Amino acid sequence: MLNLDDYLNTIINGDALEIISSLPDNSVDLIICDGPYHETQHEWDQVSNLQEFNLKLIQSFSRILKLGGVLYLFGKPTCIDFIDYRPYLRLNSKIVWYQPSRLAQGRKSYTNNYDLICYFSKGTPQGFNLDEIRIPQLVELEHRKRCENVPSVKNGSYGKTKFNEKGKNPGDVWGDIKQLTYKSKELVSREMLNTIQKPEKLIERLIKASSQPSSLVFDPFCGSGTIPVVCQRLGRNFLASEINPQYVKMAKERLVESNFNHLQKTQEKQEDKHQISQLSLGL
Ligand SMILES: C[S@@+](CC[C@H](N)C(=O)[O-])C[C@H]1O[C@@H](n2cnc3c(N)ncnc32)[C@H](O)[C@@H]1O
Repeated sequence: MLNLDDYLNTIINGDALEIISSLPDNSVDLIICDGPYHETQHEWDQVSNLQEFNLKLIQSFSRILKLGGVLYLFGKPTCIDFIDYRPYLRLNSKIVWYQPSRLAQGRKSYTNNYDLICYFSKGTPQGFNLDEIRIPQLVELEHRKRCENVPSVKNGSYGKTKFNEKGKNPGDVWGDIKQLTYKSKELVSREMLNTIQKPEKLIERLIKASSQPSSLVFDPFCGSGTIPVVCQRLGRNFLASEINPQYVKMAKERLVESNFNHLQKTQEKQEDKHQISQLSLGL
């Protein structure tokens, strides 16, 4: 068995399936699994039966997750079709990550323009930090406020739903986070296009919603290191694995750079605060 303390906040170069089997029971708070989609030409994406592959993952994740721990599993719309995951984990939501800008090139059927993020938990989720992930009310704002004053709404079962100045629940269709393009500053390599590298903002929402600062986040298929980078920034512990040594190198470099940028920004903010307090003191 792997001693977690020895590998905390590291990226292990190896096969995720072997690493998962060497993790202790009930040891992880959150798993973000962004592995094979069975969609691209990459060698790592060639799994013979994706649903069976995902079922095996779900089964092994249920062993390593703590009670109340959460799994977010990424995939295409069919990624968990016709498999029975219920003996292992509870499915709470299927989040649709909608990308309206995806090229609509289909001729024979409707073009797919969303990915699924399956939100599982081991029993009841240990927490859901809604206030951390609220999004602006935007267009509903005026309508919502008007509705609150309509007598039937005020006195009916929706009467308790109040307009929240802090924003609304993001719901289960997320169209507000765009996929990366070749122009995105975040993109570490063009090889990582086509939703392989995930936007930090997307991962941030998942981590904020379902973990605490002391949580351990496991990323079995780390790629360019988006999940470790966001964990580092949000002060979560992580453990990641990646089979491709070049990707491991790239992800480690990204971690160092992101840490440096983060420290620099924090320092700049502190300097700004210092200057403001000096000014207000007339110094
Ligand atoms: C969809 S990408 C992950 C992208 C990542 N979330 C990011 O934002 O960059 C999947 C990754 O899984 C890796 N992979 C595939 N099979 C693997 C395995 N059996 N063990 C470890 N890594 C694997 C691939 O090399 C690839 O980098």
